[in-house]
Amino acid sequence: MKRILVALVVLALSGPAWAGPPMAADAPALYKRSCAPCHGAEGKGGTAPAIAGKPASAVAGVVSAHPPPMEKLELTPDQIAAVGRYVSSLKK
Ligand code: HEC
Repeated sequence: MKRILVALVVLALSGPAWAGPPMAADAPALYKRSCAPCHGAEGKGGTAPAIAGKPASAVAGVVSAHPPPMEKLELTPDQIAAVGRYVSSLKK
């Protein structure tokens, strides 16, 4: 597991252009890469509103709809669901 995490971090750092083979969604890494720049490392807000603790389905819905200025992120439905669960698990 640790090795998988290290590999994901390396992939995450190699940039959003990465489009590798499908694999189990790693929500914390996804969040860090795709959401933290605007919503803060712990979902407490930054340039975008705080989202920590919001219901997973609501978060997934927003990400799927990607209202501006949120970009359309290249996430699979599984990844979107996983990020939603992760955000809902963050402490407000
Ligand atoms: C480019 C910056 C940016 C990125 C990246 C981004 N967001 Fe957002 N997001 C925003 C902004 C700004 C808003 C507020 C839009 C508004 O209120 O009109 C927002 C709104 C939201 C909302 C609704 C908040 C509310 O109070 O209604 C959710 C949920 C959300 N984002 C989740 C995410 C998730 C999850 C990710 C990562 C997959 C993400 N966002 C990536 C900028 C971003």
